[in-house]
Amino acid sequence: MELDVKALPKLLVRPVVVITTISKKGIPNAAPFSLSTPVSFEPPLYGFSCSPAHDTWKNIQETGEFVVNVAGKDFGELMHVLETDYPYEDNEIEHAGLTEEKAKMVKPPRIKEAMAWIECKQEKNVELGNHIWIVGRVLAVGVQDDSWNEVIDAEKLLCHISGEFFAVDMKEAKYKRAK
Ligand SMILES: Cc1cc2nc3c(=O)[nH]c(=O)nc-3n(C[C@H](O)[C@H](O)[C@H](O)COP(=O)(O)O)c2cc1C
Repeated sequence: MELDVKALPKLLVRPVVVITTISKKGIPNAAPFSLSTPVSFEPPLYGFSCSPAHDTWKNIQETGEFVVNVAGKDFGELMHVLETDYPYEDNEIEHAGLTEEKAKMVKPPRIKEAMAWIECKQEKNVELGNHIWIVGRVLAVGVQDDSWNEVIDAEKLLCHISGEFFAVDMKEAKYKRAK
């Protein structure tokens, strides 16, 4: 069956990460992303695609650091809170009832409840289509003990398909979205 090219994101399943940044004043921001991936092993680089309208992009331009928090399925019900467009410098980590944990190498906090975390310092940005591809140098990574067995526990990962569609046990499920 041929589809309209707009169906592109619906053809792939991608892990959800919640990216934390801070403003110049030091106020944290958190937002979910699924257009994201490691892009180099040596040096270790991580990239994600961010709309220029997002507070995440504003913060990265201002303070140059971010933490990629790998989301478990328990974050599913929080997606509608984390993706809400709150006013700038409104802390979504607090709105979602999640806990800030000090990162080791960067100023933005990581999220304690995340399965794993990747601390990054901005290395390069490229304007691509209607998004900015933001690449960070990976400075530190960590994982929850109970999410690790040589590799991450893939069954626990929250994966995104498109819009309100997520992959749960490789069946699609819908989570509530903000209007
Ligand atoms: C599961 C999920 C994945 C998302 N992936 C992306 C993405 O890859 N790129 C993007 O620009 N926005 C993405 N969004 C939308 C942003 O998370 C949303 O617009 C958010 O409000 C931006 O927050 P900010 O303004 O605090 O940075 C996604 C939303 C959800 C729920």
